[in-house]
Amino acid sequence: MRFHNLSLFLLGSQIASTSAFAPQTVQNARSSLYATNPQQNVVDTIESIDATVKGALSGMALAAALWTAPALMAGTMDQFPSVASNDAFSTSIASAKEMASGSGTRVNKDPESLLRYGLPIKNKEVRDLQKSIEDIKINVSSKRKSAALDDLKKARGIINTKESKMTASCRDAKVCSDILASMKSDLEPLEGTLRASVDYQSGSDQERKALDDSYLTQDKIQKKLTTLEEQMIPAGYQTPVPSDYDDLPQLKGRATVEMVVKKTGGEKFDIEGQLFNEAKMKMIIDGYAAPVTSGNFVDLVQKGFYTDMDIQRSDGFVVQTGDPKGEADGYVGTPSKSVGAGKHGERLIPLEIFPKGDKGPFYETTIEDEGRGGEATVLPFSSYGAMGWAREEYDPNTGSSQFFWLLFDSDLTPAGKNVLDGRYPVFGYVVEGADFLRDVKEGDIIASAKVTEGAENLVQPK
Ligand SMILES: *[C@@H]1O[C@H](CO)[C@@H](O)[C@H](O)[C@H]1NC(C)=O
Repeated sequence: MRFHNLSLFLLGSQIASTSAFAPQTVQNARSSLYATNPQQNVVDTIESIDATVKGALSGMALAAALWTAPALMAGTMDQFPSVASNDAFSTSIASAKEMASGSGTRVNKDPESLLRYGLPIKNKEVRDLQKSIEDIKINVSSKRKSAALDDLKKARGIINTKESKMTASCRDAKVCSDILASMKSDLEPLEGTLRASVDYQSGSDQERKALDDSYLTQDKIQKKLTTLEEQMIPAGYQTPVPSDYDDLPQLKGRATVEMVVKKTGGEKFDIEGQLFNEAKMKMIIDGYAAPVTSGNFVDLVQKGFYTDMDIQRSDGFVVQTGDPKGEADGYVGTPSKSVGAGKHGERLIPLEIFPKGDKGPFYETTIEDEGRGGEATVLPFSSYGAMGWAREEYDPNTGSSQFFWLLFDSDLTPAGKNVLDGRYPVFGYVVEGADFLRDVKEGDIIASAKVTEGAENLVQPK
């Protein structure tokens, strides 16, 4: 059996499960949103609505979008402002202009940024630096060149004045100083190309090239930023996991998995007109955020469990796989003492949810049942290609080997306020090749899945 009922779950139980208010309240709030069109009023109205209702509002919009068809989502978004809550980004509501264009709020949709924010580090200065460097990218992409230059100035200022505050958090201060120096020297050519892009005529080839070069340099800098932040993880750090789950594989840290998906009969992947023989995706699997789920996944990848398996669902909402041939719905193996085995001997794993700000994940229950509905999780489902662990609708502890890639990075699903966060764990993101997911279809085959980095972080039960 495949877990085909995820979207039904979303439709059926969303309103019922947000029990703190009557659906009528939402309905009223909603019609008043529709009625007050001048954007500022909408913003005021939303801000005055209780947070739980906000969650339900975006949930309802999502459910409605799912009910109609993925293709209609854009239309739905136009009428429906979303509500941001990711504290890493501005908590403001969409600006009038953004809402008018339907592009929504500053939901952080960048998987690499989300992974940085998910790192178990505490250093305010490096988070400020991260924000300025990521802002450069956002502003370059939308051709706000002078804003990007301002962000650059800010980043340089932080490196110049806060170096010792940052290196104080590092396992090895010297390594961090070197990374900072190297980031700082990369800011020079970046400033050069940004300034050039300002001077060239808007829309010219030279401007395009200057912006492309800026984009590439920014990317180089942000990769160094990741290395810098990783240096701030305390030596020997492990996300705490209760000993109940000692008999399940766990991932202590992160791992990289590369997967190749092929179509049968030599068909090609068509990504906006460009043809590819195979879909190659690189995924970061995060054992800091979801040690048991990630450990289980990496273990199965190592065992070759997913190799030659077909894609079992692709409906514009998720791409899903992990259901082996035969009777079993998951991986048949030694069951854990905690959550046991499935009907056909599947090794089951507990639902694992890590709310932001907590020391570690809680297990075996959803965020609502934990009484914390609407809270943000360490890794949110806000990115295209976010990887979630599948399970049966009404039992949190029925996950085994099936997982899904979430296909849309919607402005309707801000962190902690959508219908997946806290109900399914995010255990990784596609960081390269996520565009292929657009053309991964049912029946395509996982030709290979390999752990290319971080295999040493997998801890098998003793
Ligand atoms: C650059 O873009 C980000 C995100 O849109 C924004 O928050 C930031 O303020 C911008 N930078 C400047 C200097 O306006």
